[in-house]
Amino acid sequence: MAEPKFRAPKGTRDILPPESARRRALVEVFADRASRSGFGEVVSPMFEDMGVFKRVGESTDIVTKEMFDLYDKGDPPQHLALRPELTASICRAFAEHRPVPPWKVWYEGPQFRYEQPQAGRYRQFTQVGVELLGTDDPQADVDVIALGAGFFSSVGLSRVRLLINSLGDPQCRPAYMEALKSYLESRGSDLSPQSQVTLERNPLRVLDSKRRADQPIIDSAPLMVDFLSAESAEHFETVRSGLDALGIEFDISPRLVRGLDYYTRTTFEFAAESLESSQNAVGGGGRYDGLVEDLGGPPTPGIGFALGIDRILMACDSEQVFPQPPPALDVFVVDVTGGPHALSVCDALRGRGLGADRAYGGRSMKAQMKLADRSGAPFAVIIGEDEVASGEVTLRDMRGDSGQRRVPLAALAGEIRHLLSPKQER
Ligand code: HAM
Repeated sequence: MAEPKFRAPKGTRDILPPESARRRALVEVFADRASRSGFGEVVSPMFEDMGVFKRVGESTDIVTKEMFDLYDKGDPPQHLALRPELTASICRAFAEHRPVPPWKVWYEGPQFRYEQPQAGRYRQFTQVGVELLGTDDPQADVDVIALGAGFFSSVGLSRVRLLINSLGDPQCRPAYMEALKSYLESRGSDLSPQSQVTLERNPLRVLDSKRRADQPIIDSAPLMVDFLSAESAEHFETVRSGLDALGIEFDISPRLVRGLDYYTRTTFEFAAESLESSQNAVGGGGRYDGLVEDLGGPPTPGIGFALGIDRILMACDSEQVFPQPPPALDVFVVDVTGGPHALSVCDALRGRGLGADRAYGGRSMKAQMKLADRSGAPFAVIIGEDEVASGEVTLRDMRGDSGQRRVPLAALAGEIRHLLSPKQER
């Protein structure tokens, strides 16, 4: 095959059928679970004023290195950016529309980060997620985490570990930051050059380093949990006991800091043990009690998470769960009279709620039967001159269960419905 003239840009992919159907089915499982927990869908713009995203972390890679930003053609031009995540957009929307809290929303869609692409790390990837704004009740944290954990179970994934931590609040964080900074400075020359730079910007981010040189230093660093205020400690305790009460297993991960700056108190990550450790975060989230206010809204606590659909599908492959959904076609119509009957029969069947497809270009019976086979449809309808003359069609069971027979055209849809097992009937 000749080299294509153009390819999808680096770090992006075309998701083709049938994999696209599996992805859509996965999003639907999430949508169903979120709606049944009282969350409504928000669809927000794919780009925002750059200022919206600056608030998510001036010291994070996401904002400093990975933004897809652009200036529009206005006068003066507006500095815009493709969204790297959705929490900031949701908080911007909350500040703009002032819905009555608690506001419970879910979302789905592509995010953009200029990362070094590798397996499970893309420049355009899809997230689903929820945000719950307007309450700092720790039971909301438990409810939100339980929604994520329940989603993984309903997909069939059993090797997803939940890691939780508390990052404290504005009262206790400064003392911890001071202790962490002086500790890291005391080890300064042993840190990797990259972490020495990070230390200047935000000592907390150093804990996120995966570089080998930094690991022994990180392992002995002071821990936020030892600095928590009484309120934050109690909040964390209530979250843990709530998860215990629901039978949700978790590990406390005192060095979990996450890649965004807005977090306060509860933070968590879902790690797929079936994936390689550098890309095994299939989701993450936490509280961001100051973000709405930072974006110009009223003081409003919030908690949420986002899950990476691309990585979840990789984990499903490793655990061999969540297979392709069955084909949406019930019937493939084979018309050996040239095609016009296929047109009307397909149209009628689709009108009766059945899935129907056909071939084009007046192909031979053999070629059409091959396509019928490949389509995965459990039935084929065959139309020849004979059938047309008698106002009938031949209905063939492609699964081999009930052979083939003539059916009056008017009775076709009802007959197919009858033959489809209740499981297949949609
Ligand atoms: P995040 O940890 O940056 O959090 O992203 C959440 C998930 O998105 C990750 O765990 C991962 O599965 C997926 N993901 C991130 N980057 C990539 C990439 N380059 N390629 C493929 N998948 C990726 C957030 O985005 C926060 N907004 C989560 C949140 C919601 N916190 C509170 N509410």
